[in-house]
Amino acid sequence: MNVKGKVYYVGVNDRHKALFEGLWPLPYGVSYNSYLIDDDMVALVDTVDACYFDVFLAKIKEVIGDRPVNYLIINHMEPDHSGSIRLIKQVYPDIVIVGNKQTFGMIEGFYGVAGERYQVGDGDFLALGHHKLRFYLTPMVHWPETMMTYDETDAILFSGDAFGCFGALNGGVVDACINTDIYWNEMLRYYSNIVGKYGVPVQKALQKLGGLPLSAICSTHGPVWTENISKVVGIYDRLSKYAADEGVVIAYGTMYGNTERMAEVVAEELSAQGIRNIVLHNLSASHASYVLADIFRYKGLILGCPTYNTRLYPEMESLLSKIAARDMKGRCLGWFGSFCWSGTAVKLIGEYNEKLKFEPVGNPVEMKQGMKADVYSRCRELGKAMADRLKADR
Ligand code: FEO
Repeated sequence: MNVKGKVYYVGVNDRHKALFEGLWPLPYGVSYNSYLIDDDMVALVDTVDACYFDVFLAKIKEVIGDRPVNYLIINHMEPDHSGSIRLIKQVYPDIVIVGNKQTFGMIEGFYGVAGERYQVGDGDFLALGHHKLRFYLTPMVHWPETMMTYDETDAILFSGDAFGCFGALNGGVVDACINTDIYWNEMLRYYSNIVGKYGVPVQKALQKLGGLPLSAICSTHGPVWTENISKVVGIYDRLSKYAADEGVVIAYGTMYGNTERMAEVVAEELSAQGIRNIVLHNLSASHASYVLADIFRYKGLILGCPTYNTRLYPEMESLLSKIAARDMKGRCLGWFGSFCWSGTAVKLIGEYNEKLKFEPVGNPVEMKQGMKADVYSRCRELGKAMADRLKADR
């Protein structure tokens, strides 16, 4: 599949894996993208998950027949991309592996592969013939060895995971030739789940690459971006600054529906106060990957749960640790909770926020056992306080 000129897509689709990294659901599957530059010297950019090696190799041979691949450029070592390095090396024993200092330690550690290598630093260069490649180190987007390869001849950026998304490719590869509707939410979920902690390194990478002319961004997951380049760069810029839209995520735990009733009342008041974007997540029903994506999307967050064995409801504890692990910034937080005989949930969410450092909004609401008139009114007050806070930014 041709991307541009002599640059070919040789990636594969995975519609079998249920959970990416064993954690994140894949309702639309995922693609592992690899690219082949067919020049005087042939270069392969990244590989694919080892399960798909046969399909991958057939695609390579379809382009170059029995000619060898001269260079294997490794932009990223996570095994969804590096998994076929050892097998590629067996097929092409003279291949030169191109990576940075961090890359080669990982290649030995994961695969025990040695052999000829070309170690590059930031700004280093490789000529394939017609194509001239330049390498940019982009550490911690989202592993320490991550780098990007820029084809100066065709203005193509091979960006590794950056600008990627979940979702297999259904026939076509280039955005201009396919319906991209499913990929936008999956890009948000990919970013917030996989890359979310690394806003500062992403910003550094965007600044480093900002001046490059681009005709295509070839990521390791999802479509090749051509007509959506400014859109995907803009999405990454906003997400890595933790910028958010006006709206509220209400994420709650509930055992018998009493705490859920509090969430509903808060949501009704938010709506009555003119907030349009309101998302409720029952943490026992929504996978955390979707909750995190919505927390990245919206500025307001309201958390509520019952006390459970004198501690936080476990699903809430799990969500809070995932939020903290992403170093999220700039959110407004309200909270509520319930108990039967000994209340600690409200206190513990407040204590957790000393770590998160979100802006507290309104008064936390605590309910004993079931809804009563004063709980209704305090939940409404909490909803109004959040609405007022968000509207102050308009
Ligand atoms: Fe797609 Fe970080 O691997």
